[in-house]
Amino acid sequence: MGVMDLFSLKGRLSVVTGAARGLGRAMSEAMADCGADIAVLDINLEMAQKTAGEISEKYGVKSEAFYVDVAKYESCRQACEEVLEKWDHVDVLLNNAGICINQDAQDVPLSDWHRVIDINMNGVWYMSQLIGRQMIRQKSGSIINLSSMSGFVVNTPQGQVSYNASKAGVIHMTRSLAAEWVGYNIRVNSIAPGYMDTDLVHKTLEADGPWARRWMELTPMKRAGRPEELGPLAVYLASDASSYMTGSIIVIDGGYMVW
Ligand SMILES: NC(=O)c1ccc[n+]([C@@H]2O[C@H](COP(=O)([O-])OP(=O)(O)OC[C@H]3O[C@@H](n4cnc5c(N)ncnc54)[C@H](O)[C@@H]3O)[C@@H](O)[C@H]2O)c1
Repeated sequence: MGVMDLFSLKGRLSVVTGAARGLGRAMSEAMADCGADIAVLDINLEMAQKTAGEISEKYGVKSEAFYVDVAKYESCRQACEEVLEKWDHVDVLLNNAGICINQDAQDVPLSDWHRVIDINMNGVWYMSQLIGRQMIRQKSGSIINLSSMSGFVVNTPQGQVSYNASKAGVIHMTRSLAAEWVGYNIRVNSIAPGYMDTDLVHKTLEADGPWARRWMELTPMKRAGRPEELGPLAVYLASDASSYMTGSIIVIDGGYMVW
């Protein structure tokens, strides 16, 4: 088998949360381009349906949309059940759904704290356990968690304590699950991006105010990443190309963490 064959995802199913737009969509497209079917899970069902339709048309794979609010265990359980009614295996779980609320720590309302932790960290846990059980039955799988450089460094100048804490949690959850499930042939890794130009930060980048200027000053490449620049890494982690990699957190940030 040649090296390029190791990147093939033909016949595999990738379940991607928050896949309707942004990084989740870009990574789904990259995996579909390498042959994977895509279950597009999102809280925005209408957008998810549009995305799934476009993915199947463009890449000739099977892609379907499913509603999920990853902050709610019952919703995750329901979505996983629906996916497993259509496919009898799950090869890749990409835990991507996430939000960020910028506030100074002393002003964070309790409800906002819980919302960020529920989506960014608890959601990763709910989905990993539910799909992990299926992967344990199959004795194979690759789980990829979207963390962030914010799980290592504190972004500046904006306040985002809940986001930073949630992403640090995702990083250590990744390592813990990697250790626990290595015996079931399940690999668990994480992608930790720097600033990426998605709807999450686009308005701030475009306004080019003090926040965006500071962000770019601190980024050696002097630009935000494009969503499609995460695609090849997602394919690598999803596929047999990364067969010896587990418990790794891969930073992809235009050099931000170098300085
Ligand atoms: N954009 C960045 O600069 C950046 C940097 C580092 C990490 N990340 C992480 O990458 C991931 C994707 O971010 P993005 O920039 O594409 O954001 P985005 O806002 O463009 O997309 C997020 C997607 O998640 C969905 N979503 C939100 N809440 C959900 C919920 N409760 N249940 C299910 N789906 C939900 C949204 O509908 C949307 O489709 C997040 O985990 C984010 O923290 C982003």
